[in-house]
Amino acid sequence: MLGNKKSNLQVDKDQLELLQNAQKRIKQKKRLYVHFVLFLIGSVFFILLNLILGFGKNFKPFNTNWFVFAILAWLFLLLYHTFNVFITHKFMGKDWEQTQLEKLIAKQKQRIEELKENLPAKEETNLTESKKKTELSLNPTIIVAVAENNAIGKDNQLLWHLSDDLKHFKSLTSGHHIIMGRKTFESFPKPLPNRTHIVITKQDDYKVPQGIIVVNSLKDALDVAKKDNQPFIIGGGEIYNQSLSLVNKIELTRVHHNFEADTFFPEIDYSIWKETSNVYHKKDENNKFDYSFISYIRK
Ligand SMILES: NC(=O)c1ccc[n+]([C@@H]2O[C@H](COP(=O)([O-])OP(=O)(O)OC[C@H]3O[C@@H](n4cnc5c(N)ncnc54)[C@H](OP(=O)(O)O)[C@@H]3O)[C@@H](O)[C@H]2O)c1
Repeated sequence: MLGNKKSNLQVDKDQLELLQNAQKRIKQKKRLYVHFVLFLIGSVFFILLNLILGFGKNFKPFNTNWFVFAILAWLFLLLYHTFNVFITHKFMGKDWEQTQLEKLIAKQKQRIEELKENLPAKEETNLTESKKKTELSLNPTIIVAVAENNAIGKDNQLLWHLSDDLKHFKSLTSGHHIIMGRKTFESFPKPLPNRTHIVITKQDDYKVPQGIIVVNSLKDALDVAKKDNQPFIIGGGEIYNQSLSLVNKIELTRVHHNFEADTFFPEIDYSIWKETSNVYHKKDENNKFDYSFISYIRK
């Protein structure tokens, strides 16, 4: 609505300008017409004055009556006036042309400023987007089991034994790279079969059984796993904290119970994460607590 009002005002302003210029042109032409009539009357008057009334009868430059020169001089002024009206002030006149030119230049300047403002912002957004896409192109997934109070471990051990969760973990991660912190690796009695283990540690000479890959940073771990279409980040607390912003999927088992713990999973920000599936399971003889398998993807 406001936009329309503004453009109407603009049209009115332009129309007013055109009207004012048209009026100006009419005035100019009227003045020229008056000038022409005065010229005719003046010419007749000079002729009468010179020939009939005998004024300056003896003044004959180049052997010609002076009224001829007087008429020619006036004719020159009339022609000059005509030239101004039809050539110099053609159409809207110089002032109008100047105003139009200034308007055009101002518009161009404004457009250039707008482009300047938008260009770096757009480039920055594109860069951030492409960086994010590159980072997420690995499609790493966090897999975790979390209590109601976000507890995940204590004394470098899990807090529960849920047989179905272990099967769920096995079915999702088998055949893939599993990335973990050194402490989580040490919490296993032995390496898990059919998975490529990548252990993150700051230690330079960390000793591991054959086949286990050791890296010194999360970035290196992701690099090593880059041929895997879905590497899994399997913990523990420190690694989850560092990787949550780098993944676009979380496979979470929510254990419906509170536990005393020393290691916790970070709070899930539901403005960033969208739940895509949620399957609830009641406790039974193999699973001591109620639990839900929940999948999240980044919005
Ligand atoms: N509920 C679950 O789903 C689940 C899953 C996994 C683990 N957990 C539990 O989580 C607990 C272990 O977690 P945690 O946080 O104590 O340890 P962690 O994350 O497993 O490992 C921490 C270690 O990883 C290395 N590390 C971490 N960030 C690093 C980096 N940026 N660069 C190089 N090395 C890095 C360091 O090793 P160095 O000290 O050798 O340098 C650090 O001490 C255990 O209780 C475990 O049972 C629970």
